[in-house]
Amino acid sequence: MSDFTHDFWNFYIAGVALVGIIGCALFLWSQGSASYTIGKTTGHSWDEDLEEFNNPLPKWWSWMFYITVVFSLGYLVYYPGLGSFPGLGKWTSVGQYDAEEKAAAADYAPLYDRFKGMAIPAIAKDAKAMEMGQRLFRTYCIQCHGIDGGGKDGGFPNLTDNDWLHGGTPERIVETIGNGWQGVMTPHDYLGADTVRNLAHYVRSLSNQPGVDAARANLGRTAWMNSDCFTCHGTDAKGNPDMGGPNLTDNIWLYKSDEATVIDTITNGRNLEGGTTTNNRMPAWKSFLGEDKVKLLAAYVYGLSNK
Ligand code: HEC
Ligand code: HEC
Repeated sequence: MSDFTHDFWNFYIAGVALVGIIGCALFLWSQGSASYTIGKTTGHSWDEDLEEFNNPLPKWWSWMFYITVVFSLGYLVYYPGLGSFPGLGKWTSVGQYDAEEKAAAADYAPLYDRFKGMAIPAIAKDAKAMEMGQRLFRTYCIQCHGIDGGGKDGGFPNLTDNDWLHGGTPERIVETIGNGWQGVMTPHDYLGADTVRNLAHYVRSLSNQPGVDAARANLGRTAWMNSDCFTCHGTDAKGNPDMGGPNLTDNIWLYKSDEATVIDTITNGRNLEGGTTTNNRMPAWKSFLGEDKVKLLAAYVYGLSNK
């Protein structure tokens, strides 16, 4: 089998490798018969007192270099490296990855089989499962949820508190991870800037934010009931897990809690099609990772806030 489209490249690669090695050897050898003026300076000096001598290379150094030359020739005879010559050892990386994958899958199969029959809260108490879950989490989830699952400002929820967009039951967590979710907070610019501002004061009053104007908050409460906010956030603003609308009465924020940001959220909304953010998409993992890994990840996430 040759990876080269034309034989020329095969010889070219082999030639470059061999000429390089032989060139090194010849150069080393030539140094043995060069003429030296041991102990005398060449007359060059730099920085006032830095002088140049013309001494031979140290023997140990030359020998180390000869050894590397011999080693590299031996290497090229045994391993592939000279163009398309496969090497006497016939070593190849073809199939290596698949073999390792298979071996790993065989190693883990009995563990996954054991977790299949277990409920998620029980898996979350299993040290081995949490260790495997953490490894998966650190591979696939931390760029959005943080290394500790603590989330990030800008729509990436904290997974370690007990505040859930989608309810936080084991079934809901499996569903969110498996099928993903697109957070949709619709824009409300049509209500007019003044009403939006009143709504922002009302929402911010629910978690005792500083700088709330009581009169505006009161008007905002009426606007809340007259608009559609309650359909996704609940009448009491404590969230609606079916719609993924967050609880607005705790002091836990996906976006910042200052007045300008809250006004921005209500005015422009937060969703992929419009609004100020494109961050609030939780990818779907079921088809990529398979149900076993999704279950293990769900148990890991569940365990982060149910210790
Ligand atoms: C590209 C960014 C991104 C990646 C990667 C990602 N997530 Fe998410 N995740 C989000 C966003 C954004 C949300 C919030 C969606 C919303 O607004 O409802 C979310 C929500 C969640 C929720 C629901 C939280 C709640 O309060 O109900 C869980 C659970 C979750 N992610 C787990 C994971 C796991 C496990 C992984 C790794 C397999 C992962 N996420 C990878 C962005 C991401
Ligand atoms: C269609 C459902 C829906 C409606 C209607 C809706 N929201 Fe939302 N809202 C959401 C979702 C979902 C989020 C979280 C967005 C995300 O995941 O990025 C959110 C986020 C917010 C936030 C930011 C919360 C945070 O933690 O940073 C505020 C404030 C807010 N909504 C206020 C309102 C107000 C006020 C109204 C009514 C004028 C309203 N929402 C109407 C679904 C909705």
